[in-house]
Amino acid sequence: MSEHEFRTVKASQQVLKELMVPSYANFGGKVHGGQILSLMDKIAYTCAATHARCYCVTASIDSVDFLNPVEVGELLTLYASVNYVGKSSMEIGIKVVSEDFHQGIVKETNTSYFTMVAVDEKTRKPAPVPGLILEDDAEIKRFLEGKMRRKFKQHYKEELRQARRELDIDKELWRLDGENCRLQR
Ligand SMILES: CC(C)(COP(=O)(O)OP(=O)(O)OC[C@H]1O[C@@H](n2cnc3c(N)ncnc32)[C@H](O)[C@@H]1OP(=O)(O)O)[C@@H](O)C(=O)NCCC(=O)NCCS
Repeated sequence: MSEHEFRTVKASQQVLKELMVPSYANFGGKVHGGQILSLMDKIAYTCAATHARCYCVTASIDSVDFLNPVEVGELLTLYASVNYVGKSSMEIGIKVVSEDFHQGIVKETNTSYFTMVAVDEKTRKPAPVPGLILEDDAEIKRFLEGKMRRKFKQHYKEELRQARRELDIDKELWRLDGENCRLQR
């Protein structure tokens, strides 16, 4: 890839539709969360690999909150778009909606952000990805938010690492007061 290559957000946007069949159900009769995660990973890969035009791996997934249960018989639609790109990483924003198409009811299921990294197939090392051409305010906003999320995640990881290093359980036992646990050591 040449150093100054840029591609539009629209060029790699993806839509994936899948009917929720009975084999996707959990013991409670609703669609298994893992099934939806697998579809999200699939569309994240397609979107990232279309932008990078090379093999990509999933480096991390932001928290996924399931807002509404998905029923067997509903049509799930996933939308994916590259929000932000670094040197070799891409933040893919994914929105999932489910639709009871007999009744015409559409529910938002969840939104999440996957970080995908382009990898050189020979060396298995991270490979540079094209830049993004931002064509409207919504794309600029998503790019800036992606950059913020990346910074916050790095800070959070560093702070957590530091807090774990400094954790002295004997000094912190008072924090268990009122928690749903019982000491039995
Ligand atoms: C993701 C991976 C390629 C990163 O390799 P690495 O040698 O640590 O690479 P670097 O530290 O140079 O990071 C490369 C890029 O990935 C990003 N990155 C690495 N780990 C990350 C993480 N956990 N979360 C988010 N971004 C991450 C870096 O920020 C960097 O981004 P940039 O190039 O845009 O600045 C490597 O950790 C890997 O192969 N992981 C396994 C991925 C996989 O198999 N996924 C499927 C699991 S079943």
